[in-house]
Amino acid sequence: MSAFPKEFLWGAASAAYQVEGAHDADGKGPSIWDTFSHLPGTTYQGTNGDVAVDHYHRFREDVALMAEMGMQSYRFSISWPRLLPQGRGTVNEAGVKFYSDLIDALLEHNIEPMITLYHWDLPQALQDEGGWEARSTAEAFEEYARLCYQRYGDRVKLWSTFNETVCFIGFGYITGGHPPGVQNPARAIQACHHVFVAHAKAVAAFRTSGIAGQIGFVNVLQTHTPLSQSAEDLAAYQLAEGIFTHWLYDPVLKGEYPAELLAQTQALWGVPQFAPGDEQLLRDNICDFIGLNYYKRETIAANNQESHLTINTTGEKGSGHQQGNEFGFKGLFKFVRNPNGVYTDWDWEIYPQGLTEGIMNIKARYGDIPIYITENGLGAKDPIIDGEVVDDDRIDYLRQHIGAIEDAIKQGADVRGYYPWSFIDLLSWLNGFQKQYGFIYVDHNKDLARQRKKSFFWYQKLIASNGAER
Ligand code: BG6
Repeated sequence: MSAFPKEFLWGAASAAYQVEGAHDADGKGPSIWDTFSHLPGTTYQGTNGDVAVDHYHRFREDVALMAEMGMQSYRFSISWPRLLPQGRGTVNEAGVKFYSDLIDALLEHNIEPMITLYHWDLPQALQDEGGWEARSTAEAFEEYARLCYQRYGDRVKLWSTFNETVCFIGFGYITGGHPPGVQNPARAIQACHHVFVAHAKAVAAFRTSGIAGQIGFVNVLQTHTPLSQSAEDLAAYQLAEGIFTHWLYDPVLKGEYPAELLAQTQALWGVPQFAPGDEQLLRDNICDFIGLNYYKRETIAANNQESHLTINTTGEKGSGHQQGNEFGFKGLFKFVRNPNGVYTDWDWEIYPQGLTEGIMNIKARYGDIPIYITENGLGAKDPIIDGEVVDDDRIDYLRQHIGAIEDAIKQGADVRGYYPWSFIDLLSWLNGFQKQYGFIYVDHNKDLARQRKKSFFWYQKLIASNGAER
């Protein structure tokens, strides 16, 4: 017997740009990732999602594999420019049909769809009008959300608006590693505000749509620990918590920004600027649930120097978080390597207890909000032995994190589902296809043939026993 309730959903996740391919098929418009990934030097060895793993053409085969594994829910995202090539206005019916057929195929196999409306692939046409820095993008998002509710709301109960603001705003507007490649914190804060406005508008539209379901928001669960107990490191840690957790969760779970930080940013940069009615809009449209994506813990230290981000995109251990050049914000804090930590080959700390701690912190701050673990997984180059993909490290990682969720449930958290990242090996935004996360291997030298990994059979048993057999 496990502590998982019997209605707990065992799933897996993906995102449109990372699996679908068919980047210009059947009337789809370009997204900012289609544009960005074709610019020289932006991604690992120039990899892009033009073909990805061709899920667009193979979704029936993929859904059959999900069913065979026993998946009870599938979290996927909709490509906004596949539905609305210009971001608003004319609807691309072929794109609408693709997701409609996918949803039907899932339901035929008793797999509950969970839709993410925005997993970073903004229509390029809207970027050309200012992207998230333009308030009109929030209005276009509401139109897009309404279209999705109209076309899929009769069959889909679980919805989330955005995936990981910290990534697409942080990388898009602070470090510049994602599109639109801006490096300006003030612009980041205003763009982020428009995302919160877009979210609130989409929640409001959901509530009047009559859909018998729930709508939430998906955030990175970034668990922090201070490097030392010195007053400086503790202050840096508090600040990291404030920015990476409270700033990003409070507006969607409390309907307001953390007051002290808001006053500071407005004094420093004059942002975020609110339009009349924004405060009320946020207050009135709090989420039904929160989705947590947990991969790693971050160790935080005080920081008095300029630094820039060096991401490990090769899987060569130690090429990220280099000592003496750790990423951070001068005068605020920096991310450092934990001297006692266990790290992946991509320099991500493996710390399962951080998932329990993070869930309990969310519960402490936001009360009894329903929680889904919408991503969690190990990125690795999987060994192939005698033709079998033997991903024992992934099994260990998932086993430990499932244990951490069970601990949180025992401590009273309302966790309703688990979606490992990812169902299938897919395109990593900046790491190409070498960083594998899936239960299913895709052979890029053999016509993208699918192959079940060892973890596929492990997860199959785990699901069948509702988490007991692991
Ligand atoms: C999450 C994203 O941040 O992490 C996914 O929602 C992403 O889209 C995943 O693929 C893993 O990140 P990476 O960089 O290892 O591919």
